[in-house]
Amino acid sequence: MNIIWNKTSRQFHLYNDQISYIIAVAPSGELSNIYFGKRIRERDDFSYVIFRNGMPNIAVDADTESYSMELNRQEYPSFGTTDFGASAFEVEQSNGSRVSSFVYKSHSIFPGKRAITGLPATYAAEDEAKTLEVELVDEQAQMTLLLSYTIFEKYPVVARHAEFKNTGSTKVKLTKALSCCIDLPDQDYEMVQFAGAWARERIPEVRKLTGGTTSIESKRGVSSANFNPFMIIKRPNTDDFAGDAFGFSFVYSGNFLAAAEGNTYGRLRILMGINPERFTWVLKEGETFETPEVVIAYTSTGLNSLSQTYHRLYNNNLVRGKWKNKPRPILNNNWEATFMDFTEDSILKIAAKAKEAGVELFVLDDGWFGERNDDFAGLGDWVENPAKLPQGMAGLARKIEAMGLKFGFWIEPEMVNPNSNLFRRHPEWVLAVPGRKSSLGRHQLVLDFSREEVVDYIYNMLYKVINGASISYIKWDMNRPLTEVFSNGCPAQEQGMVYHKYILGVYSLYSRLIEAFPDILFESCSSGGNRFDAGMLYYAPQAWCSDNTDAIDRLRIQYGSSYGYPIVSIGSHVSAVPNQQTGRTTSIATRANVAYFGTFGYELDLNEISDKEFDEVKSQIEFMKEHRELIQYGDFYRLRSPFETDQTAWMVVSEDRKRAIVGFYCMRSNVNTLPGFLKLAGLDPDTLYRMEGKEYYGDELMNMGITLSEFYKKGFTISEDFASFVTVIDAI
Ligand code: DGJ
Repeated sequence: MNIIWNKTSRQFHLYNDQISYIIAVAPSGELSNIYFGKRIRERDDFSYVIFRNGMPNIAVDADTESYSMELNRQEYPSFGTTDFGASAFEVEQSNGSRVSSFVYKSHSIFPGKRAITGLPATYAAEDEAKTLEVELVDEQAQMTLLLSYTIFEKYPVVARHAEFKNTGSTKVKLTKALSCCIDLPDQDYEMVQFAGAWARERIPEVRKLTGGTTSIESKRGVSSANFNPFMIIKRPNTDDFAGDAFGFSFVYSGNFLAAAEGNTYGRLRILMGINPERFTWVLKEGETFETPEVVIAYTSTGLNSLSQTYHRLYNNNLVRGKWKNKPRPILNNNWEATFMDFTEDSILKIAAKAKEAGVELFVLDDGWFGERNDDFAGLGDWVENPAKLPQGMAGLARKIEAMGLKFGFWIEPEMVNPNSNLFRRHPEWVLAVPGRKSSLGRHQLVLDFSREEVVDYIYNMLYKVINGASISYIKWDMNRPLTEVFSNGCPAQEQGMVYHKYILGVYSLYSRLIEAFPDILFESCSSGGNRFDAGMLYYAPQAWCSDNTDAIDRLRIQYGSSYGYPIVSIGSHVSAVPNQQTGRTTSIATRANVAYFGTFGYELDLNEISDKEFDEVKSQIEFMKEHRELIQYGDFYRLRSPFETDQTAWMVVSEDRKRAIVGFYCMRSNVNTLPGFLKLAGLDPDTLYRMEGKEYYGDELMNMGITLSEFYKKGFTISEDFASFVTVIDAI
């Protein structure tokens, strides 16, 4: 890994064993992109690839008339000179002009990586990464722009963000400040987006790119289930096993834009950052604005390897604290078992049975506080309801811990019901436009987290509940998007800052709680997977993946989630049947076979299942305890897509390739077809493995595949809907 500055050619070459990223200072002083892709050798000068001899109808520099930004591949294009494509940023200056031109002034290269103030970001020790910061200036705007690039030693990854500073004495206004731009030299690519809605999150969809703009975004105040802030730009023939692709992962949890813009000269511009719609940021004298980070990864060997890069990087260099790289506790959550209708006794009964099954952590979900007996009231009043918890949270925690279980509970700190003491006391603390109607979502309003005093107040309330009790886990929910976004604490000309300030408020509450209670495992949640993003992983190392707990639908949701997010971050539970969202009945075995590939837990009352099923649950928990380290942290391979056939499969392989676990699932039976084969991946071709009592070499398993008829004798037949098997493969 290194970053070379070539003084004569004025080029930077960032490289490690796997990738090269090459940047040039263009004649105009702006930064051009020369190359990003598979590692190439270092040369003094790569300017031979810069194509500037086209026929622009307008030139940026009168001396070199052929030189137009439109024909130039850029690193962070400005608005208003000779590039007519999408800009990466726009700054409104005191004279009203938005034209700007930031030119190279200086740079620094240092080991490691700096944190971004108030925002989540990947981190790295000095021997893990190197960072290049290029300082650019616009004299007339009296501003500096810092473009930051970090290359990691072990990963084919470059992390980018930008920082603006007002060095003048008058206010300026950023009206757009994306985090990165890359101009690729051709348009033969497809965009893979991860789209959906509540209960059907992160479904991969592929769009062919061409001239014009293809984009995804969120304007909901959360990153959203509708479009995840992660996308892949791949060659048309790239699949999970082969081919070139770039991943763009936004380390941010609010509004975003990700776009690919093809111009008519064959250039493909990729942009990602905070959504410029609904965004402005006022910079007063001396103030700076830092954008969130985008983690850009490259693969030349298919999407499984791209995903593995994100899994490893996020587990090692994004997730922090006690739970970093730790197997996660097997939990039982009471939500689908009781909803808000519970007493301490009924909770203790569920917990006792969970303990008997081998569960390690009990989670009390929504309904324990204020007047919260249904979803019309109580949010904002983070004080125990004595009718449900007579000895408070501390009392319940004590009783659960006495059983030998750890204990955690649910909060939704960003919200308030109009029917709550908090709202009655502080109606001005919600996001709402005075005099206009406020839209309710699940009968609740959004607290104005852009105001420090609101965050403080919620922190103090939560602190009291947590501090008095023995709490090991917190599920942080967020159940509606932001609407009528207006802050009573903000002057008129700064209302455009509220969406971003809101997210900064969320991050600051997380930071304060983590600092006060460093051992607590946080799980983020937003009506299931409505805010499942890399930003959240910095604070909460796991996320409730979806409110849809149906095993068959979960195959798609977890498969889609695995493209950008580590398996250990995917909250997955076995719930009751018929499933509450789909009405589908699947066996307890299949429900566990799916839920194993995530954090694993139960979302039901284990007193309600048959004795036979309970015995199965006990063995499932034993199985997960034995294998969770491998499942949650091994190399994950998608083997067969649930979006293409009626069967799906995935597997994990240990780092030393001595053990693997395969999951195979029949989503819909096909009568009168041959069972077929399933090709495995990631094994050592020369190693002899044992699977289901038989021996095979790795090359057989990967190239010829396993015969699915092998599993008939385990009670699995192809003509059975929702059948599944999970099998362990060991090197001999
Ligand atoms: C939505 C979450 O996704 C559920 O798991 C549950 O916690 C409910 N909220 C509680 O209101």
